[in-house]
Amino acid sequence: MKSGFLFSLLLSFLIQLSEAQYHYQGLMNYLESRMVAMEERIALWHEQNNRYTADLKKFRQQASDLLEKLGKDHSKLRLDLEGAGARVDRVEREMDYIETKNPPKPCVKAADKMVEQEAVVKEKKKKEEFFELSVCMDLVSSIRAMKILKRVGSPKGIWTKDARTAKVYIFNGESEDTLYEFNSREELSTSTGLSKGKQITLPSVWNGTGHAVYDGFLYYVSERSELQVVKYDLKNGSVTDSAVLPVEAQTPVYSLNPETTVDLIADEEGLWALYPAGNTINLAKMDPETLDIEQMWDTSCPRNNAEAAFMVCGTVYVVYNTRPSSRSRIQCVYDVADMVTNDEAPLLYFPRRYGAHSSLKYNPAERQLYGWDDGYQILYRLALKKKLWAIAPLPEE
Ligand SMILES: *[C@@H]1O[C@H](CO)[C@@H](O)[C@H](O)[C@H]1NC(C)=O
Ligand SMILES: *[C@@H]1O[C@H](CO)[C@@H](O)[C@H](O)[C@H]1NC(C)=O
Repeated sequence: MKSGFLFSLLLSFLIQLSEAQYHYQGLMNYLESRMVAMEERIALWHEQNNRYTADLKKFRQQASDLLEKLGKDHSKLRLDLEGAGARVDRVEREMDYIETKNPPKPCVKAADKMVEQEAVVKEKKKKEEFFELSVCMDLVSSIRAMKILKRVGSPKGIWTKDARTAKVYIFNGESEDTLYEFNSREELSTSTGLSKGKQITLPSVWNGTGHAVYDGFLYYVSERSELQVVKYDLKNGSVTDSAVLPVEAQTPVYSLNPETTVDLIADEEGLWALYPAGNTINLAKMDPETLDIEQMWDTSCPRNNAEAAFMVCGTVYVVYNTRPSSRSRIQCVYDVADMVTNDEAPLLYFPRRYGAHSSLKYNPAERQLYGWDDGYQILYRLALKKKLWAIAPLPEE
């Protein structure tokens, strides 16, 4: 009996150990792939960056040493990991510094390097990605503050800001062929209604609250006999491209906002689309140039009782509510890089107030959400932390 007890104790200890090892293995694989990616870019700047190359080599050595020590000394390992994390932060800051010296092309394709099922990408594009590499690995840790800017217009709508400019856009209602452009948030807040805005009339009607403004272009959803994504150049007012999306017609992606079939989303990593698939929400990575779909994922997040979603650094946050509305909360999380699972992500509540969002648009430059709630324009400031700490949490006291 006693030996049986000891045996099961040993077994559970071994299981815990191998779970921890599995986590650290994942972390180390990730660090390793980050290193490889960073080194590729560093190589391109070789002459001016000898110093950083040496730094990275040292870190890589440290990382492989850590891998060897796995399982041997748990608490020591954790300290080492923190050291490694601090070094990652430092290297990131140095990379940022180099980037300000060598203005890079805009952000981000690191997720592609981490995900194994590579999408079919053209050779030419591959080269550009050397310059687009980013080290975006933030996770939302809390909704830190809220500000109500204004109340204009209908119960449903969108307000959003292009992360690359100061311009703010308003879509008032559930379907229209117009939108309003403001030169800044200040211009909107001092406007009587929408009077100070420039009215833009589109060549077709937009439906729902799933539109995105990204890098001077509007990507809007138009739904008549088919569901179309239209790319519209806001600088000279012309349609640049359009694509038909193969989604179930008139099935809402969020059950609490039935007029939205597809939600187009911009984050640090580019353009994405959330769309309905059975009872859950699917995610697609889109090429903002051509509107091609590059890759798809099943997030497993239910559509039922969802009201909106947003993305930060390649992680989807689905916001749920009830009918009648109560407190909005982030209750399902999906990370395309697979670093954070839904179980590890915290359940986050929005500040208590009116209660039902028709849209939540993330601005990566400001780390704020632009929420539309019963005609109110609200800003939510997000607190972020590194995903690294989500998978290697500090031990509980
Ligand atoms: C999209 O909006 C137009 C104009 O309001 C409307 O006629 C059409 O039925 C809408 N489509 C859907 C699927 O709701
Ligand atoms: C708008 O600008 C784009 C390039 O920025 C150009 O390709 C397009 O032809 C222009 N369209 C019109 C109508 O001027």
